[in-house]
Amino acid sequence: MSIRFWAVVPAAGKGERMGTALPKQYLSINGRTVAEHTLRRLLAFARFRAVLVAVAVDDPWFAQLSVASDPRVRSCVGGSDRAQSVMNALAALAGEAADDDFVLVHDIARPCVRLSDIAGLVEQVGNDAVGGILACRATDTVKQATVDGRVDKTLARADVWLAATPQMFRYGLLRDALVAAISAGVVVTDEAQAVELFGRAPRLVVGASDNIKITRPDDLALAAFWLQRQQDRKWREDGER
Ligand code: CTP
Ligand code: MG
Repeated sequence: MSIRFWAVVPAAGKGERMGTALPKQYLSINGRTVAEHTLRRLLAFARFRAVLVAVAVDDPWFAQLSVASDPRVRSCVGGSDRAQSVMNALAALAGEAADDDFVLVHDIARPCVRLSDIAGLVEQVGNDAVGGILACRATDTVKQATVDGRVDKTLARADVWLAATPQMFRYGLLRDALVAAISAGVVVTDEAQAVELFGRAPRLVVGASDNIKITRPDDLALAAFWLQRQQDRKWREDGER
């Protein structure tokens, strides 16, 4: 049987750093919610068999989105942290997904992800034994801090990357790595970290730096800018054809 692709979208966060009553994934940018922008980007990748969204148990907003009725969109209940939300989505696919299938996990809060970067990740990681993630090289010099807020050391900038999403792994490996991390009580902040703790080294694939994660209030304006710019470019390029 041929390998299938699944998208998993953790969307059960409360967006505490955003500080709004409405979780950040339901705030509007350029006339659409963040969640709709993000899910439409994922749906544009035709190879996804389904896009599984993990939403908070008490979330009244998700079902009202127009994308929620897309035949490829499904939802499940999220968990108490991101890893648990992803785990719940993987559990919802058990029985349907094979261990060798690929899962691409993407934050609901990254609405600017480019279709070309999703395709690039699939292209570059499709034959990798471990899997890989979209990431950008650090442009700032990165300091590791001591507990009392002093510089402990400077990391070699050439070796520092900022992890983004999607993060792409085989279904079986991702499930086993997350189960191991969760049962060891380690709070991982992305899927790659679970895979690293499992003793494997995910590949780093360079992605566009406009794939920002909306975290704080200023990020909304930044995302609006990038979405508009991508739209303008697309029209210009389509017009040139
Ligand atoms: N997430 C999730 N389940 C949780 C916590 C987070 O599915 N229990 C998701 C978020 O919805 C988001 C992604 O994980 O898509 C990345 O998390 P983050 O940017 O930290 O979002 P929040 O946890 O919502 O924000 P904050 O940490 O500021 O509260
Ligand atoms: Mg969080």
